[in-house]
Amino acid sequence: MSYLAVKQLNKHYGATQIFENIDFSADEGEFVTLLGPSGCGKSTLLRCLAGLTPVDSGQILLQGTDLVPLSPQQRGIGMVFQSYALFPNMSVKDNVAFGLKMQKQSASEIRRRVDEALALVELNEFAHRYPHQLSGGQCQRVALARSLVTRPRLLLLDEPLSALDARIRKHLRDQIRRIQQELRLTAIFVTHDQEEALTLSDRVVLMNKGKIVQNGSAEMLYTQPVDAFAAGFIGSYNVLDAREAGALTGRTWQGQVAIRPESIVLVPAGQGIDALIVSHSLLGNVIRYRVRAQGIELLVDVLNRSVADLHPNGVRIGLQLDISTLCEVA
Ligand SMILES: Nc1ncnc2c1ncn2[C@@H]1O[C@H](COP(=O)(O)OP(=O)(O)O)[C@@H](O)[C@H]1O
Ligand SMILES: [Mg+2]
Repeated sequence: MSYLAVKQLNKHYGATQIFENIDFSADEGEFVTLLGPSGCGKSTLLRCLAGLTPVDSGQILLQGTDLVPLSPQQRGIGMVFQSYALFPNMSVKDNVAFGLKMQKQSASEIRRRVDEALALVELNEFAHRYPHQLSGGQCQRVALARSLVTRPRLLLLDEPLSALDARIRKHLRDQIRRIQQELRLTAIFVTHDQEEALTLSDRVVLMNKGKIVQNGSAEMLYTQPVDAFAAGFIGSYNVLDAREAGALTGRTWQGQVAIRPESIVLVPAGQGIDALIVSHSLLGNVIRYRVRAQGIELLVDVLNRSVADLHPNGVRIGLQLDISTLCEVA
């Protein structure tokens, strides 16, 4: 039996179905990411798990008990929001202590556990500051400490890194993963950022328009997308129709075919498939080319090792496709 099992969960607002027959599970200590574009229903689903929004039907089984009839306080769940949601008139220490005070823990127990939680997020020296005296990253660490201090059975994180700048985002991302592993927390993390999902997660649940599209390891989602949406959303796959794929490979294909940009190899003109460099952009250590072959435009990623890897726009080039890296998608 899974630690968390979400079964046939449904939610609508008015005439709009927000999500439909959602089924997924998490093992104890697993980090599961709900990944999908904005508006696909991720936050609503997370709020339903926390009990902040009622569901229409379905079950949320945590350690075998259905949470649906329980109030948010009875569920033993911690939640972190994109907007931090700190109490502005309370110090860092009092923000973190809030949940324990609600539980009527003793003063000494509260002091001990607040210190412990602040140490986890490396914020002890900020205990007496107020939220307006903190950076965004520090506010989010307070919010994380506040959600951990009650030792939740399940930690929910709704785009906790989205409001932060890139450097802080990476640092806090690593910190969240470290703490989650140290405490063996079961975490459900929501994001629209595929890189975040792939780097953080034990498992990714990909959603689109209120439905689960694919559920598996980061590796599996990246290498075996089940449909054109998954191929486009994770990795910048080239998605070709059967005719285009046939023209490039000389084989017959039934449906659409997805090719990852890094699976296409550039070779000297005259070898492989004849192609033209249309444009290129530098993504740091990778050069992303847009090439045209037989009227079909493709993205090709090449590791930027030296100037020899840079081909100017308009030059002829050859392409090599490794058929084993192509996958047919629905
Ligand atoms: N309280 C609400 N009333 C009506 N519609 C809502 C409400 N909350 C969210 N929605 C709608 O539900 C859909 C999913 O929203 P949300 O769960 O916030 O998506 P995500 O977090 O994936 O961006 C959106 O179309 C949104 O407009
Ligand atoms: Mg959201």
